[in-house]
Amino acid sequence: MKTVVFHGSPRKDGNSDTLAKSFVDGLRANGNGEIKEFYANDLCIKPCQMCESCSKPERVKLAPNNCVIRDDMEEIYPAFAEADVVVFATPIIWGYMTAQLKAILDRMEAIASNRYFGGKAFVVIITCWHHYQTLVAFFKRAIADYYDDVKLHTIIYCSLDPTSKKDVHVSNCKQKLEEAYNLGRNLGNPNFSAASQQEN
Ligand SMILES: Cc1cc2nc3c(=O)[nH]c(=O)nc-3n(C[C@H](O)[C@H](O)[C@H](O)COP(=O)(O)O)c2cc1C
Repeated sequence: MKTVVFHGSPRKDGNSDTLAKSFVDGLRANGNGEIKEFYANDLCIKPCQMCESCSKPERVKLAPNNCVIRDDMEEIYPAFAEADVVVFATPIIWGYMTAQLKAILDRMEAIASNRYFGGKAFVVIITCWHHYQTLVAFFKRAIADYYDDVKLHTIIYCSLDPTSKKDVHVSNCKQKLEEAYNLGRNLGNPNFSAASQQEN
């Protein structure tokens, strides 16, 4: 089983990063070692130019590297194409995923088809203070409901302490770390019932 992890936060060891690491630890504990990790903030990714070159017949045959832009997406496309499990980990900033992660998703336009998205399990890890529902709805509509045989799993951590109004690091929430770890461990297990874990 192959997994690709997209760390969307610029904050290494922040909340979403830490949860993604727990998930990966769980995967590794179950012997699933084929994991590629991408830290969006460290990559050079130009936003999609909406040129539609990727859909021209002479480019389609070059898929998954059919985008005309030459940058770090060249490493991401084949990793994504081969993956059975895809993890998107992001904090909410101004109500949505980070711009760094969104740039990667926009560039996925080049391979937006059942061939590359269908049949995969997607794990969406969202950390926030208040509102995550819009982003969960996006992943459901744009990926889970759109492509065939997709499983969507969500892990949500609201890091705002309502009393002190301070951000509480997820390392203080053993239950959430375990949720991420257990999902990682279970996803590689063929007896795991994915349906029972869908949607929080
Ligand atoms: C600049 C900034 C903007 C933020 N905007 C939002 C927001 O619009 N909605 C929300 O629920 N949380 C917002 N947050 C809270 C973060 O999503 C939250 O602290 C999250 O746990 C950070 O995750 P990370 O440590 O992985 O970066 C914001 C935090 C910062 C620093």
